[in-house]
Amino acid sequence: MRIIAHRGASTKAPENTLKAFKLAFQQLSDGIEFDTHQHSEGIIAFHDKTLERTSNGKGFLLDTPLSRLKQLDVGEGESIPCLHEILDILPKDALCNIEIKHLNNVDTWVAEVKKAIEEANINEDNLLISSFNHHWLVQIRQRWPRVNIGALTATYALDPTYCARAIKATSINISIDVINADFINDAKRNGLDIYVYTVDIPEDMLKLKQWGVTGIFTNVPDVAQHVLYGN
Ligand code: G3P
Ligand code: MG
Repeated sequence: MRIIAHRGASTKAPENTLKAFKLAFQQLSDGIEFDTHQHSEGIIAFHDKTLERTSNGKGFLLDTPLSRLKQLDVGEGESIPCLHEILDILPKDALCNIEIKHLNNVDTWVAEVKKAIEEANINEDNLLISSFNHHWLVQIRQRWPRVNIGALTATYALDPTYCARAIKATSINISIDVINADFINDAKRNGLDIYVYTVDIPEDMLKLKQWGVTGIFTNVPDVAQHVLYGN
């Protein structure tokens, strides 16, 4: 079972920062998940629409020029990273889950991401694109047939894997709050990988490993390594 650091190693370092991503890999994570917005000046890692919770700025992220965003402190002196800065520190073979919180335009988004992975020499197979906005994912799939796509859901729907099948997703990325053994069997029957968020409790980690899920997103990758693999 893969251990994916949720917003980086975000308990011990500020979320969605290069510091949190580097720490995640020091803690032997198999990959990182981060939240992104397509800003008019590029794709950047940030969770919220507004700046207040995680930075010393005020107002809306997308209304703020990139030059100003770059000056903000998002904790421990870290700044908001651009996609290319994250890809530059990604170890070979690490999974890179780009969660889309906002995009302006699907065509320019796909072009920007393709250019960034090419420049950073990232293997396309190591990318996982996910979003709660399944309409965007359908449009990305039409333009990028080979890329891994994860249908994010917080719902145990009546037809639980419909969204992933309709998107032609490679995985379903589901909340720990609604997952159960029937769901896992259904997803496996449909050939889907299963990632679960956000898994910080050791008992949950062990249960999901036993159930055979593909990976977990955790804020505590060091704890997961220890509990699951004794590292
Ligand atoms: O990708 C899984 C998880 O990150 C989704 O929720 O709000 O933590 O981005 P959130
Ligand atoms: Mg996220």
